[in-house]
Amino acid sequence: MKYDFDRVHSRKNTGSAKWDAVKAIFGSEDVIPMWVADMDFPAARPIVEALKKRAEHPFYGYTHTGPGVTEAVTDRLRRKFGWKVEPEWVVFSPGVIPALSAAVKALTHPGDEIILQEPVYFPFFSVVKENGCQVATNQLKLNNGNYEMDFEELEGKFEKRGGMEFGGSRIKAVILCNPHNPIGRLWGREDLTQLGEIMLKHEIPVISDEIHCELLYKGYKHTPFATLSREFEQNSIVCMAPSKTFNLPGLHASSIIIPDKKLREKFNEARAGAGSGLNIFGLTALEAAYRYGDEWLEQLLDYLQKNMEFTLDYFKQKIPRISVIKPQATYLLWLDCRALGLDDKALSGFMKEKAKVGMNDGFIFGAGGSGFQRMNIACPRSILQEALERIEKAINAL
Ligand SMILES: Cc1ncc(COP(=O)(O)O)c(C=O)c1O
Repeated sequence: MKYDFDRVHSRKNTGSAKWDAVKAIFGSEDVIPMWVADMDFPAARPIVEALKKRAEHPFYGYTHTGPGVTEAVTDRLRRKFGWKVEPEWVVFSPGVIPALSAAVKALTHPGDEIILQEPVYFPFFSVVKENGCQVATNQLKLNNGNYEMDFEELEGKFEKRGGMEFGGSRIKAVILCNPHNPIGRLWGREDLTQLGEIMLKHEIPVISDEIHCELLYKGYKHTPFATLSREFEQNSIVCMAPSKTFNLPGLHASSIIIPDKKLREKFNEARAGAGSGLNIFGLTALEAAYRYGDEWLEQLLDYLQKNMEFTLDYFKQKIPRISVIKPQATYLLWLDCRALGLDDKALSGFMKEKAKVGMNDGFIFGAGGSGFQRMNIACPRSILQEALERIEKAINAL
């Protein structure tokens, strides 16, 4: 069937964080919300049908993830990435963030350090801190609009701390974000291999958040970290979910792939009793999305590609003082607003009060985020156009 992504649907008063919290967050109802990562598009028909069918069976007891759900995950990973995942490697979680937290808890003691490549999705900081750990920043380098990992700095982190022979490094894991939110970068085989080798050398697992791995622009192909080698596979915790791809984040279902048995046991131990129960509708939607969602996804990606090109072109032609990092993946655009000469507070105020567009402030993503804004372009083009016109008008009046 043909989906109409141009159609504007009202999401107000539906319990939508993106729309209903606008006044609380941005100070006015008249702000176009382009912040939190969910899309203003209805879910694919087969998902809606599956949810309706499940709702018609009025027994909403505790859930058990049967083989059908696990098979939907393993089939998809094989089909999309050629990754052969054994069913017992798959652990379900209500979300990727709770899974990241469990992974950190499993691998650390309070006071240990976790490497984050900033600027990065800000809840990673809470995940580290709520486990009593500290962030070891390995800031990404920005060269001519292109982000790169800084391997030299990364290696230096281990040397500075003296390595294991001096009582042991306190670095216990890296949280990789691939594709990388907020910069829209898809890390390829070379970067992943280099990162993975460093981690193997220091015997440090890679927690790989790949939640955006199916939201790619034309010409890009995702490589799950664990598929690069057998050793990497055994040294990783890979987090995936249909929630970003199919716009289901309110249903809370994600799948965490942990090939190494010991690592998996540690993970399960760490999260025992910590709200890891699953939602019956989340699992129903996950299975339907993975099995029957591709027709919708193909059309969505085509629409997002056009939104992305439209936005980049608009900034280039009409708002040249803001330059956009060209994304390879995700519907989150990273806007470099540094040429406006505003400090973070002023930039934040300018966007919400003058432009009346509600984006995420760059500085919340950590080092290297100052002077940036993150814009969610997963909305009908008419809304996107209005937001761009508002920004253009406000900048012209600066
Ligand atoms: C990189 C990344 N990880 C995790 C999440 C959230 O995951 P969940 O809602 O499953 O906890 C997001 C949401 O935007 C994200 O961008």
